[in-house]
Amino acid sequence: MMFKKITTLVATAALSACLVSGAAIAGGPMTIKFSHVVAENTPKGQMANKFKDLVAERLGGKIQVEVFPNSQLFGDNKVLEAMLLGDVQMAAPALSKFSRYTKKLQIFDLPFLFRDMAAVEKFQNSAKGDELLASLQKKGLVGLGYLHNGLKQLSSSQPLTVPADADGLKFRIMSSDVLAAQFKAVNATPLKKPFSEVFTLLQTKAIDGQENTWSNIFSKKFFEVQPYITESNHGLLDYMIVTSKEFWMSVPEADRAIVKKSLDEAIAFGNEVALKKSQDDRQKIVASKRSEIITLDDAQRNQWVEVMKPVWEEFEKEIGKDMIDAAYKSNM
Ligand code: SIN
Repeated sequence: MMFKKITTLVATAALSACLVSGAAIAGGPMTIKFSHVVAENTPKGQMANKFKDLVAERLGGKIQVEVFPNSQLFGDNKVLEAMLLGDVQMAAPALSKFSRYTKKLQIFDLPFLFRDMAAVEKFQNSAKGDELLASLQKKGLVGLGYLHNGLKQLSSSQPLTVPADADGLKFRIMSSDVLAAQFKAVNATPLKKPFSEVFTLLQTKAIDGQENTWSNIFSKKFFEVQPYITESNHGLLDYMIVTSKEFWMSVPEADRAIVKKSLDEAIAFGNEVALKKSQDDRQKIVASKRSEIITLDDAQRNQWVEVMKPVWEEFEKEIGKDMIDAAYKSNM
């Protein structure tokens, strides 16, 4: 009787381990479903495909990666929930999309915090960057690394040169209270919407504008439905590659090290793609002549900084002043 109970318990535990890990019960390879929302020709899309290739090369037959781009499997609003349920094993949401799980990552949304991507890199590679990477642990998620996309630009149906030009306009934002505060600071209306809906919202003029990087504006064709793009470089769009603790610990230790090494290499590759795309995709948009690019002189840019920077103080308590100071110092 006792023996039967134990065998049943062991079998149930083994079955649930298989389900969590995505492994085929009949002894097939363990599957890592990698879900993301952008196109395949973006930094994140190319990083995910590289990761899949490296894992196939090194762990073929044991572990395989399946990549689902363009919100095919989950949009960013659902993916973390799905990950905790074991329905997807990896994703790389924008750092702006974690606020239900931690308030600490809001730091990356503070407007005009980082002067350039070198400052972002320096901060992410610091002890504080590691601390933020670990900030999801209590929620059962493991931050495996950061990935760059780049600095954001403002696209709009009207030319935006000074903050007063944004007055009364509607902007789509990612699900971040900091981004909402940033647009409220210029008397605009922020609307939290999934990435997959942005093109239609712009095309149908349900909203007036949005903020994004050159590669997202290009790959999702936002420039075809937005006549003006202000080169503001006012904020950051980067990612965190995450998995669930339950899944991560179910990968045998030696294989886990190989998966992590493959991911680190794929991230390095993705960061190179991001750097190149921030220049190339901008050029392609210029060449298309569909959208006029507005550059700001120092006085105009300072006006945006002046009205948006008070947002830092609003979120100082949730993020931590020491964290903000450390990030700011990475500009030096
Ligand atoms: C992404 O790059 O993953 C999406 C960014 C956005 O939602 O604007």
